[in-house]
Amino acid sequence: MSTSLSIKGLTAGYGETIVLDNISLEVPAGGTLAILGRNGVGKTTFLASLMGLTTVHGGDILLGDKPIQSMATHRRNLAGLGYVPQEREIFPSLTAEENLAISVHEGGWSLEQVFDLFPTLKARRTNTGNKLSGGEQQMLAVGRALVGAPQVLLLDEPMEGLAPIVIETLFENLGRIRDESGLTILLVEQKADLALDFAEAAIILDRGHIVYRDTSAALKADEQAQHQYLGVGEID
Ligand SMILES: Nc1ncnc2c1ncn2[C@@H]1O[C@H](COP(=O)(O)OP(=O)(O)OP(=O)(O)O)[C@@H](O)[C@H]1O
Ligand SMILES: [Mg+2]
Repeated sequence: MSTSLSIKGLTAGYGETIVLDNISLEVPAGGTLAILGRNGVGKTTFLASLMGLTTVHGGDILLGDKPIQSMATHRRNLAGLGYVPQEREIFPSLTAEENLAISVHEGGWSLEQVFDLFPTLKARRTNTGNKLSGGEQQMLAVGRALVGAPQVLLLDEPMEGLAPIVIETLFENLGRIRDESGLTILLVEQKADLALDFAEAAIILDRGHIVYRDTSAALKADEQAQHQYLGVGEID
């Protein structure tokens, strides 16, 4: 099951500091959205704000037709938001299996379904979190969100810091989740080419504002926008 996500005039940050200014956006049920932008523009703050982990100064967040902006983080989880944070945050002293088991919620994926999707993780199911590679930890973080019965999945740079071969596998796995689960998915990603292949629509954030929104196909064809807002083609 999936649902739509609707954000109206979201202004948020940390304490008095405003990082996101008046963000409005709609993602239809089963839709996929890439969230792009250079370092430090507010991508993580945006997903964290949806989860109730920042200071919200104004705006509405609707999951389907349910307002969630006043809910505590765990209530948003229960309401159907699945979050894979940039820092993964898996429990280092619990096994992979235990990390999944503590997040199980009725109606979510079973552990077996997660292990079918990520056979590598299945082979490591009794390893503790601190004994998993970066790629395995990321698979575990995604699996943990899936067992929690999400309707909307929020992914914060899942491919970050992984070797190219691991990125390729994880990207394929995420494509299977998208195609087979029908979940609504928001993907924050630095690699525009990957994100635009994954999602049907895209936004670009710059200093807390949405500076571009269109279909992924349109942004892919718009080299000028990619250059201007993402620095694609520039030498770092
Ligand atoms: N916990 C925090 N307290 C105060 N300011 C923060 C905090 N986290 C981030 N910021 C600031 O908010 C702004 C946006 O940061 P954010 O982490 O959302 O960017 P980002 O687009 O996710 O960057 P990256 O691509 O590096 O992950 C930055 O100026 C950052 O310094
Ligand atoms: Mg970030």
